[in-house]
Amino acid sequence: MGLGRNGIAHARAHKKYGKSEIVALCDRDEKKLARYGKELGVSRLYSDESFFEDPHIEAVSINTGDIDHLKPFMLALKHGKHILVEKPLANTVEEVAMMVESVREADSNLKIQVGFILRWNPAFAEIFRLARTEKALGDIYYMESDYIHNLIYQKHQTDPATGHNWYLEDEYPMNGGGCHSIDLLRWFSGKEIVGVRGFSTHFAFPEMRHDDCQVALFRFEDGSIAKVASLYGVTCERLPMRSLRLYGTIGTIDGDQIAIGRYPQDEEEAKFRPIGVDPTRSHPFDLEILDWLDAILANRPPLVDMIDGANSTMASLCACRALDENTTVEIPVFGKDI
Ligand SMILES: NC(=O)c1ccc[n+]([C@@H]2O[C@H](COP(=O)([O-])OP(=O)(O)OC[C@H]3O[C@@H](n4cnc5c(N)ncnc54)[C@H](O)[C@@H]3O)[C@@H](O)[C@H]2O)c1
Repeated sequence: MGLGRNGIAHARAHKKYGKSEIVALCDRDEKKLARYGKELGVSRLYSDESFFEDPHIEAVSINTGDIDHLKPFMLALKHGKHILVEKPLANTVEEVAMMVESVREADSNLKIQVGFILRWNPAFAEIFRLARTEKALGDIYYMESDYIHNLIYQKHQTDPATGHNWYLEDEYPMNGGGCHSIDLLRWFSGKEIVGVRGFSTHFAFPEMRHDDCQVALFRFEDGSIAKVASLYGVTCERLPMRSLRLYGTIGTIDGDQIAIGRYPQDEEEAKFRPIGVDPTRSHPFDLEILDWLDAILANRPPLVDMIDGANSTMASLCACRALDENTTVEIPVFGKDI
């Protein structure tokens, strides 16, 4: 559901592996429906909610814009479908809370994955292994990760079906893009984020309603700190790996380099060496889709489950509130008890 750039990337990944069959497509834009129905060889085409009543559909990939995740998500749950819902989970704190509540009441066998795709980037997966499985950094006490893209082309992406441009009117950089960084830092540290404050400004992308440069400082449950910047109007983009820094009591990660040592107690300062994994594949759609399908087939949890997706999105939305209200915001944390 949702045949924009992202939905089509999902559909093509499904076609590539043959582990699933695309039985139906849904988009309110009839032109896209006809075009992609032909490309993907799919004849069951829907432009409204009757899509969810189709008994042939077992699982739904929700790729509507950030402001349009809630309703399809609720309908998919109601009709007992497995769900892959794109990041950020929603565009308001209230929507996130409603979605979590409905999952608690739904069939617990449904596999719900939230599309925090960077976790499938092999370089980030290696950093997770080093930080969490090997505990090579010791206790992590400070982290940085930025989302820095030139998204100025989005001013031309007015939805023909509604005349609305959600990227310009509704998106906060800290929620739309910053949520990727926030999710990575939650994952690498294994700690929840409990508070946020920050600053934002508006220079480079005047067509956006919200500030195009947003910077937040996050406090984690163990007292560690992280900084996330999300910039939408830069003239060139920066790979997420390039701005990643993790500082632990016995090791540091700087992009794709790692240094281990107990300096200054050790005699020599630790030297950086490459972690040895290509950092350039930032959007591994195939691995993300294969993980969701395998979770369904093998009846196991997906890599990014509902609570992970909700906690990362809640942190990014609370950061947006902190920026709007120029205050510190405490962040509610959902427990794993679904
Ligand atoms: N994982 C990633 O790296 C990544 C990258 C880009 C976008 N995204 C996310 O993917 C989602 C989609 O992004 P996009 O850029 O493809 O958006 P888009 O606006 O280009 O496409 C959304 C599509 O959904 C359709 N749609 C919206 N509401 C609908 C409804 N109620 N019924 C039927 N059709 C509906 C629209 O007609 C449109 O074709 C967003 O949540 C975005 O944040 C994720």
